[in-house]
Amino acid sequence: KRAHLCTNSLGMALQFEILARYKRARAAKLTLPHFTCQTPLFMPVGTQGTVKGLTSSQLEDAGCQIVLGNTYHLALRPGADLLEQLGGLHHFMNWSRALLTDSGGFQMVSLLHLADITEAGVTFQSPVDGTSMLLTPEESIHIQNKIGADIIMALDDVVKTTITGPRIEEAMYRTLRWIDRCIAAHSRPSEQNLFGIVQGGLDPHLRDVCCQGLVDRNLPGYAIGGLAGGEDKDSFWRVVAQCTAQLPEDKPRYVMGVGFPLDIVVCSALGADMYDCVYPTRTARFGTALIPEGMLKLKNADMATDVRPLDASCSCMVCKRYTRAYLHTLVTREAMGSQLISYHNVAYMMKLNNDLHKSILEGCFPQFVQGFLRMQFPKGN
Ligand code: GUN
Ligand code: ZN
Repeated sequence: KRAHLCTNSLGMALQFEILARYKRARAAKLTLPHFTCQTPLFMPVGTQGTVKGLTSSQLEDAGCQIVLGNTYHLALRPGADLLEQLGGLHHFMNWSRALLTDSGGFQMVSLLHLADITEAGVTFQSPVDGTSMLLTPEESIHIQNKIGADIIMALDDVVKTTITGPRIEEAMYRTLRWIDRCIAAHSRPSEQNLFGIVQGGLDPHLRDVCCQGLVDRNLPGYAIGGLAGGEDKDSFWRVVAQCTAQLPEDKPRYVMGVGFPLDIVVCSALGADMYDCVYPTRTARFGTALIPEGMLKLKNADMATDVRPLDASCSCMVCKRYTRAYLHTLVTREAMGSQLISYHNVAYMMKLNNDLHKSILEGCFPQFVQGFLRMQFPKGN
């Protein structure tokens, strides 16, 4: 059932209601066409129309509210036209809650080192037949309109934060020029929310220009991009703090490619609302469970006889039913091992979201953060 949403003349298919604040941190209700989510909000990554190892009903059971898909991968397989014919990605993957699609540029640049970015768009070699293909801002939006996610992302020019020089400036201004092409190409503004992406590397002036430029376009939400690419934590947090301070209070703010539980806690304190990362599911496939104390490596020999659940404070299906010893035996041998750890890790991230949301609502956010840090860094290091 689709929520009824106000749409304004500029096109908006969401409501963002801030329920409580603690200093810069916010707890909000984000109403999207397919689902009403709570922020802070973590989005597991389902690149190819599936969060690896989990069925859509398991995702729901684990408390997942919104999944991220990738335009680039979905456009190659099964293809945008076929997806549209088959009723959009929601229907195709049998997922009734919210979806967000990333625009494709970042995936091409990070996955295919052969991608070439010009003013026209991103040119890349098709991994299917090797032919040269061009993804323009218009094409990215057309594809995302066919995929049908609740939130779609503008095509941006992404450069690694560890690069310096004029390329950073070029990418930021190009991202601003492309946003107008994305807005003009967007054919379903009352059903899908187009988010702009702030670029500008680690340069405060460039970030400032980009924030102002995007805010002037009055978009339904804003992402902070170009981070979590190898820069030091201080620089990362400084950019997030600057952007959240400049972006509108009453719109969702999404830090792309983040991340680790600690980064989500810190960015939420800095006023960010949404996150996505492959980390919880990828690390599960390598045999690592996320627990309040940090990471639990199921491959370790001492797990062989450990009859405790992954996390005694977790009420997920896996923690209720299985021991560390059982998961130790499965991991790396049976697909079920990484599936069960993925399930727990998604549930862990959802509990973290929920704890953050509740602590802001109840006015005990600092106590929550303190408790979180004490668990993760018991010796104060
Ligand atoms: N995923 C992680 N970082 C980015 C970014 O800067 N842009 C896009 N489009 N996706 C991302
Ligand atoms: Zn669990």
